Amino acid sequence: MGALILALPSNLLATQSAEHIERGRYLFDVAGCLGCHTDKKNKGAPLAGGRELKTPFGVYFSPNVTADKEFGIGKWSDADFLRALRFGKNPKDEHYFPVFPYTSYSRMTDADILDIKAYIFSLPPVAVANKEHQAGLVFGSRFMVGPWKVVNFSAGTMPLVPERGNVWNRGAYLVEALGHCGECHTPRDQLGGFQRHLHMSGTKDGPGGETMPNITPDKETGIGKWSDADLKALFSIGMLPDGDFVGGGMAENVTNTTSKWTKDDQAAVIVYLRSLRAIRNLVNKKKKTGAGNLY
Ligand code: HEC
Ligand code: HEC
Repeated sequence: MGALILALPSNLLATQSAEHIERGRYLFDVAGCLGCHTDKKNKGAPLAGGRELKTPFGVYFSPNVTADKEFGIGKWSDADFLRALRFGKNPKDEHYFPVFPYTSYSRMTDADILDIKAYIFSLPPVAVANKEHQAGLVFGSRFMVGPWKVVNFSAGTMPLVPERGNVWNRGAYLVEALGHCGECHTPRDQLGGFQRHLHMSGTKDGPGGETMPNITPDKETGIGKWSDADLKALFSIGMLPDGDFVGGGMAENVTNTTSKWTKDDQAAVIVYLRSLRAIRNLVNKKKKTGAGNLY
């Protein structure tokens, strides 16, 4: 009898953490952590880092974020993990480069960030050392990220907008916090800061040198004429209204992220995208760059 009673709390804990891991897996998918932290091109192990990320500011290599205690983040506390995603700082309190999209992830709730950690720590650790970034004096200096952050970054979760309702708020969270769509679709200034008045209106110089289309509801230059079915086909299978398929960064985004949205989440994203301010900004699409050379 005594043993039975003693066994209860630990069982409860086990189910709780399994739940957290399961929640974390979904959040991890829709936040797109896997793609950047996996060097798929060179058959790197999942999350072991080393993926080359080309930006207009230099070439960065994603770090190993597996639970390996020596080469990964296996020794990190919850506080370390929260500091990284919320504030863009490492355990030594140094700044991360904004190629790690903490400018978006900072909007996530503590609970969601920690469930992602629980999921990552449930995966096998991989002992692979990190590579050095190649970004020159200014954009390769962690110190210089400090002043950049003062101008371009404010840490903190997203304020709810109650009068917009739950669906809109969920969509906003999926797009702005988890999906970090603006990291590609919003144009940046010469120092890599977001041009907020052009939010989601596309750019010719996106990550990886790709042209990022305007995804605001403008009818001529954005997605204002797309039907819900058009958007669903894109997010589910990467198909464009003309029957072609997206390439480059968006192809990867569809595979890793948008195709994994639940039906409700996909619907919420569509509601939110349609509510964005329509911005007239014509970005002529270049020819397809082919899959896989994002950033
Ligand atoms: C666009 C590519 C990209 C995406 C998407 C991305 N990361 Fe990263 N991440 C990076 C890069 C690059 C760095 C290294 C930044 C630096 O060195 O300053 C980094 C750093 C980190 C670190 C710090 C590791 C260390 O050793 O200090 C953690 C933890 C991390 N990312 C977790 C995540 C999680 C969790 C997600 C998904 C929610 C995610 N990343 C999505 C590119 C990305
Ligand atoms: C890694 C960069 C990247 C990220 C992140 C990204 N996209 Fe894209 N997106 C692209 C590129 C590149 C294209 C153009 C692809 C093509 O036409 O082959 C595109 C195309 C689109 C289109 C089709 C627009 C058109 O006119 O053809 C929509 C809609 C879209 N993205 C929505 C989103 C949403 C919503 C998110 C966030 C969940 C997102 N994207 C995240 C790079 C990105």
